[in-house]
Amino acid sequence: RGVPDVTEQPAVDHRACGHGKIILLGEHAVVYGSHAIAAPVPLAVRAVAQDTKSGGVDMFIPRWGVEYRLHRDPAHRDSFQRSLGIIFDTLELTERSMRIEVFPNVPRAMGLGGSAAMAVAVIRALDQHYKLGLSDEEINALAFRCEEVAHGSASGIDNTVATYGKPLLYKRASKKGEAPMVRELQLPKRIPLVIGISGKESLTAVTVGKVRSAWQRNPALYDGIFQQIDGLTLQAMEAMQQYDLERLGDLMNICHGLLNALRVSSWEVEELVQIAREHGALGAKLTGGGGGGSIVALCPQNREKVAAAMRDAGYQAMEVDIG
Ligand code: MEV
Repeated sequence: RGVPDVTEQPAVDHRACGHGKIILLGEHAVVYGSHAIAAPVPLAVRAVAQDTKSGGVDMFIPRWGVEYRLHRDPAHRDSFQRSLGIIFDTLELTERSMRIEVFPNVPRAMGLGGSAAMAVAVIRALDQHYKLGLSDEEINALAFRCEEVAHGSASGIDNTVATYGKPLLYKRASKKGEAPMVRELQLPKRIPLVIGISGKESLTAVTVGKVRSAWQRNPALYDGIFQQIDGLTLQAMEAMQQYDLERLGDLMNICHGLLNALRVSSWEVEELVQIAREHGALGAKLTGGGGGGSIVALCPQNREKVAAAMRDAGYQAMEVDIG
């Protein structure tokens, strides 16, 4: 379905990359102040910066067929340049002469945190090349600004996982300028999952925007759904810490029902969820922005069977352990 093969992955070098992620529970509601649980996946974006004599910042993403010269004036940048452009402006590198090459092993627009991982990878490449000495906090804060442009009203969860590469419970700050609540999750054992990739590209900015307009039309109704997702997420954190996978699976299934109520599911996502459940997954739900993208299935047994059934139906499947 037009998605590059993600099953063969080079080892992830934390210093030079941004991590891809899954959200186990809490997507969309997290934008409105609910908790969410996210974890890195063994997919990452790597970037390399080199000096040139070209007289500008040249960006190459060969896998995506993207090649451009960054416009010096932010007002003249197109939507693709706008998000990453913030990095060069903030680090005062817009006037330099360089080539940035990006190697994205996170598939594009599949709900796996590709845009945040790319921002973190580019910041880390510049940090290494120009010896800027940025801390992880600074990298994360700058990637968040890129995400705000890419997603509209990003919660900040994707860039946080992309930067730190750890499973975490996340809640955005209630006021601008304050720090979000980020708690690393210590799990007794790793949790076995299958990620099903639908191949249908979907931009998080679009699904986040749709949920926002539905919420604006009827805030009380949607606030109720966000609160229910918040409750499921906090129960899921307990279930993970007690390694109660039956309970975690039930909570994931119910969470998917609520995401469907928010209308961020799709034909492909529903098919993947059904395949997973029918082949023995304890829980299955969409992950990330939805509208296509990917699903996550909890598979302590029958993991290979679930992944094979997804592949037989024409999708990509990746077996991953989190924790
Ligand atoms: C996207 O991975 C998660 C969303 O909740 C958006 C966000 O939190 O910024 C849909």
